[in-house]
Amino acid sequence: YKRVTVKSLVDMKQKGEKISMLTSYDYSMAKIVDAAMVDVILVGDSASNVMAGHETTLPITLDQMIYHATSVIRAVNRALVVVDIPFGSYQSDPKEALRSAIRIMKESGAHAVKLEGGCEIKESVKRILNAGIPVMGHLGLTPQSIYKFGTYSVRAKEEDEAEKLIEDAKMLEKLGCFAIVLEKIPAELTKRVSEQISIPTIGIGGGPHADGQVLVIHDLLGMTHEFNPRFLRRYMNLYEEMGNAISKYVSDVKNQDFPNEDEQY
Ligand code: KIV
Ligand code: NA
Repeated sequence: YKRVTVKSLVDMKQKGEKISMLTSYDYSMAKIVDAAMVDVILVGDSASNVMAGHETTLPITLDQMIYHATSVIRAVNRALVVVDIPFGSYQSDPKEALRSAIRIMKESGAHAVKLEGGCEIKESVKRILNAGIPVMGHLGLTPQSIYKFGTYSVRAKEEDEAEKLIEDAKMLEKLGCFAIVLEKIPAELTKRVSEQISIPTIGIGGGPHADGQVLVIHDLLGMTHEFNPRFLRRYMNLYEEMGNAISKYVSDVKNQDFPNEDEQY
């Protein structure tokens, strides 16, 4: 298969072909996701939640993100692999942001990075782009600033916030970002943003008008069961199915059904 590039994503928007994006954090999962023809694999800092069990995305480190990204890159033949720059490794100043982006690109072999925020991170985005590193933006609900807002509720419901978000999206486009994630904003606002910029928008809880959709793979597979936002569609109930399989193994061991005659040397 032909590799997905930042250029092919912009072409997809022009052709009206929706972009599929999912997270992965390890080799085995990324192999399955890539083989299923997902266009973009995001090594999200949601690894802090689903991999490490933290309550927020703040604790995950740059080294840990690079470890996840390296594992994913080894598995992928087709998808574009984008890596989140984690909290605390780009906010101090643009040079730190560039250093972190370079470490991700060099040490993991990833294809692009993603950072949260609009005008606040303008200089950092510029510097990273100047180094030839593709940048994906992320607006709306930005989980790295959860303590500023206090809740994970829908963002930009008021017109002043909506206008700021549109300005931020236009700015990111003008700087040269290749796509923007829009998280948990009204469907109508996603529509406005997507119509006003030529780079693709990728929604999560942003309604049907985004140029693509993204979900956390564990949520889509139903491996997580405490997380139930309205936008989430579960395609499996792996939490239950895996639990049943593992219980069966336990009882087979206890009952001495496993291993049987064929399963030994
Ligand atoms: O970290 C993540 O998984 C993300 C997506 C939800 C967009 O940033
Ligand atoms: Na993220």
